[in-house]
Amino acid sequence: MNITVIYHSHTGKTRAVVEKISRQLGGNIIEVVPNQQYSTLSAVTKGCYRALTAAADAVTPDQISLTDSDLVVLASPVWAGKPTPVINGALRSISGGEGKRVFVVTTCGDAKSGDQATTLLKIRAYETGMIVVGGETLDKQGVINETAILSLIEKIKAAGESS
Ligand SMILES: Cc1cc2nc3c(=O)[nH]c(=O)nc-3n(C[C@H](O)[C@H](O)[C@H](O)COP(=O)(O)O)c2cc1C
Repeated sequence: MNITVIYHSHTGKTRAVVEKISRQLGGNIIEVVPNQQYSTLSAVTKGCYRALTAAADAVTPDQISLTDSDLVVLASPVWAGKPTPVINGALRSISGGEGKRVFVVTTCGDAKSGDQATTLLKIRAYETGMIVVGGETLDKQGVINETAILSLIEKIKAAGESS
């Protein structure tokens, strides 16, 4: 199973989680960054506004080929109850995603707000032609809970192996 992990992380929590996933499951890991970086203030003002309006940022890398991937893990922080404009930009950079399995992960402060963003991210991945095989929300306790992360890794593994 060839896994590609695509993620955005503004303050490092999502990065820490996906690095654990990648260490366990192998494959490629791609960090997507906005071409115009957010400061702490502009993430709250401009970033949240763009998340609320489902805007997609220009990002690097601007081309992500999934031709050789069997399973994609798409991970994003939650801003204003939504996936970030950076992960929206990542979805636009993807080519060859049609028919690929995708498991979405969001990290957040509060699970209620995160679950809403997880659902939205599943829909956005589906709209690109990928097959959504699962999704998980990790709240502020979850991102530092090794048991929760191990359980997430098992779910991703199982989703990748099921036909
Ligand atoms: C601009 C901004 C907006 C946020 N909005 C929410 C929110 O609406 N709901 C929530 O549960 N957490 C929210 N958070 C918390 C982050 O989603 C959470 O800390 C996440 O794990 C950060 O991931 P990262 O360190 O990879 O950037 C927000 C954080 C930032 C910086």
